[in-house]
Amino acid sequence: MPLKQHGRDYDIVVYGASGYTGKYTAQHIATHLPTTLKWAVAGRSRSKLEAVVSRLQELNPDRLPPSIEIISSTTDRTALEALCRRTFILLTTVGPYGSLGEPAFAACATTGTHYFDVTGEVPFVHKMITKYSSLAAQSGAKMFPQIGIESAPSDLLTWSLTQQLKREFGPATKTGQVTLSIHTLRSAPSGGTLATVFTILETFSLKQLKEAYKPYALSPVPHPNPDLAERRTTWITKVTGLATTPILGLGTTSVAAKTDAAIVQRTWGLLSEASNKGKEDESYGPRFSFKQYMKPRNWLSGVAIHLGLMVLGLVMATPFLRKVAKKFVYQPGEGAEEEVAKRDELEYWGVAKPDFGGDEVKEKEEGRKRAFGRCWFRGPVYYYTGVLLAEAAATLLEEESVDEQLGGGGIYTPACLGQPFIDRLDKAGFHFETKIMEE
Ligand SMILES: NC(=O)c1ccc[n+]([C@@H]2O[C@H](COP(=O)([O-])OP(=O)(O)OC[C@H]3O[C@@H](n4cnc5c(N)ncnc54)[C@H](OP(=O)(O)O)[C@@H]3O)[C@@H](O)[C@H]2O)c1
Repeated sequence: MPLKQHGRDYDIVVYGASGYTGKYTAQHIATHLPTTLKWAVAGRSRSKLEAVVSRLQELNPDRLPPSIEIISSTTDRTALEALCRRTFILLTTVGPYGSLGEPAFAACATTGTHYFDVTGEVPFVHKMITKYSSLAAQSGAKMFPQIGIESAPSDLLTWSLTQQLKREFGPATKTGQVTLSIHTLRSAPSGGTLATVFTILETFSLKQLKEAYKPYALSPVPHPNPDLAERRTTWITKVTGLATTPILGLGTTSVAAKTDAAIVQRTWGLLSEASNKGKEDESYGPRFSFKQYMKPRNWLSGVAIHLGLMVLGLVMATPFLRKVAKKFVYQPGEGAEEEVAKRDELEYWGVAKPDFGGDEVKEKEEGRKRAFGRCWFRGPVYYYTGVLLAEAAATLLEEESVDEQLGGGGIYTPACLGQPFIDRLDKAGFHFETKIMEE
């Protein structure tokens, strides 16, 4: 498919290409995106970026290397804006985003440059939405924070389950309860991820954290049924973390539950808003709710995971323990060796209940049916984070239908890229499948 014409020097710039995730992103671009792509790697260290480019040349000697663009400091707004004016899409892996990410976000919103990041910092996204939504709408910048492993799989799987319900029961069918489970997760966090986790409490106040993690805090519209939106948790789940869901089985507390929920709930709001504006109705509906668990081996390991996460929370909240813990983990720029990371895997399962809007006949006939889905890949989790970034950019560059559905600039979610994005991920080894099952 031809690349979109836009009159800027670069189709894509990877900002932070010298980092652990940035290198993988650049690798996927060099080995999978069209050779006609005009692109650059950007960062603060020329020598590190030159090393990245030589590695790309080894991986694919047949294509021209990307250009190198130096931004000496993340706070240099002038340099960032100048680069953004020459760039159609900026992919940024410069993090922690809470402390380093705002200037790039602001520069893209100002210059109408499309933007993708892989932050897992919900307070950062909350702040960016509050500060830059109108600017992005004015400039035409289509901005997608949180399109990494947190939180794209949850968001895309929830969207796919909804599509499966619409295919089975008709386009007007809405979605009720959605429950996801991280079925398999094998990976080690990079130094950059750990630095982000360690600094979140230093970057944001408790008030900001509380605001950002409130249910539907990132949604542009409030949920009309707060009682349904917030599924109640039993005291057993609160104490042990354990909960059982038909089809999915036993689940326990998921480390990504709140982060992923924030984006899924924003998608719920964006799609509700879009359908009210007369666009194709993909909305989940007024009785939608979302929960995410993690699959333990058995109930004992489930309780251990739940308690382990509580202890981790305590370590993060205590400055002295945080300082000690930092010494024993990967440092920024580091991560598992490629050979080790090749053994990584990730798989999500999910079920969605149809919402027939009170139609008792339909409820009686079809009420036990559920959409079941899973998404999975085998290989380095950080490589697939790069795949998500690169393929999302390619979706905007090549898929006219996505541009039309999105309309103008704004702050979007991974699911807003729809089926064309999922099809591209599938070709890159990140698979999705859904079907109907009986509970
Ligand atoms: N949510 C997800 O699924 C997901 C997945 C992967 C990564 N992430 C997030 O992505 C971010 C990057 O992770 P990573 O493992 O790639 O980290 P990393 O290896 O430490 O890379 C960080 C990048 O940021 C640049 N950088 C750091 N401090 C800078 C500064 N003060 N000024 C300019 N550039 C600076 C680094 O440049 P130098 O090389 O010059 O130091 C490097 O290019 C983290 O926030 C992590 O949490 C999230």
